[in-house]
Amino acid sequence: MSNESIPSLPLNNGVQIPQLGFGVFQVPPEQTRDVVSTALDIGYRHIDTAQMYRNERGVGEALAASGLDRADYFVTSKLNNAFHAHDDALAAFDLTLEELQLEHVDLFLIHWPLPAVDRYVEAWGALEEIYRSGRARAIGVSNFEPHHLRRLMDETTVVPAVNQVEVHPWLGNEDVRAVDAEHGIVTEAWSPLGRGRVLEDPTIARIAENLGRTPAQVVLRWHIERGDVIFPKSVTPARIGENFRLFDFELSQADMADITALDRGERVGSHPDEMNNTGR
Ligand SMILES: NC(=O)c1ccc[n+]([C@@H]2O[C@H](COP(=O)([O-])OP(=O)(O)OC[C@H]3O[C@@H](n4cnc5c(N)ncnc54)[C@H](OP(=O)(O)O)[C@@H]3O)[C@@H](O)[C@H]2O)c1
Repeated sequence: MSNESIPSLPLNNGVQIPQLGFGVFQVPPEQTRDVVSTALDIGYRHIDTAQMYRNERGVGEALAASGLDRADYFVTSKLNNAFHAHDDALAAFDLTLEELQLEHVDLFLIHWPLPAVDRYVEAWGALEEIYRSGRARAIGVSNFEPHHLRRLMDETTVVPAVNQVEVHPWLGNEDVRAVDAEHGIVTEAWSPLGRGRVLEDPTIARIAENLGRTPAQVVLRWHIERGDVIFPKSVTPARIGENFRLFDFELSQADMADITALDRGERVGSHPDEMNNTGR
């Protein structure tokens, strides 16, 4: 399947983001180059990494080896929790470009708000400088609850382009998605498969069987039809391919509603109000 079949969404500054990407959280650093190369061969053109994943270097090596033009792929990275201080954020960003072997990233995010640390407004000042320098085509946040977003927008200038938060059938996160939408912020749904746990759900299994698709394809298609950006992670080549084949079928309104109704507020990760870990 070619890249042209992956839809893009416009960010609030006009930059286009491919709605489907490839996530590399928990991909071991020594495996990252090969896994990302597999994803690029299959057709993925959007990679989601982070300083805390410790695998930016492997992402950069795969991109360099791919021979792709820089304009033909989209790369996101995220600020390490340890570096919310202004100068630390700038220095960490320099290292991200070095590891990725790039002159710019497409998107750079504050990874977690860390409310007890209370320096995300300061960190955003650094991201605004990076954005103005052209070394990030867009900047955004991750794991921001509505009250974090409102404070950021009250106290700073650039409205985040995205908010990357946990979303899957067991956690609709509708309040956050609604506030994002109200402010023209694109929601990115992390752990779109609930780390694989939602795939056992009988409702999803039934819909998958009826459509002749896999549970993962049904869940990922649900996200696409809701309009969120996703980047499922897998180190398994067959699954990397399976997760890419989402654009030759549709879910009925009834299927969409049945999956949305599975929301039970169940997280696979931390709640942003409680996550204050700055360990590296
Ligand atoms: N901003 C944040 O705080 C944050 C937090 C978490 C994640 N993320 C981002 O979101 C991305 C995705 O989230 P995630 O990695 O937590 O979880 P996920 O994509 O929801 O699920 C990944 C798990 O599902 C399995 N899997 C993948 N495709 C499958 C398929 N077709 N059939 C069956 N099992 C399948 C994978 O196994 P194998 O790998 O063994 O195949 C892995 O165990 C991350 O890689 C990262 O980029 C961001």
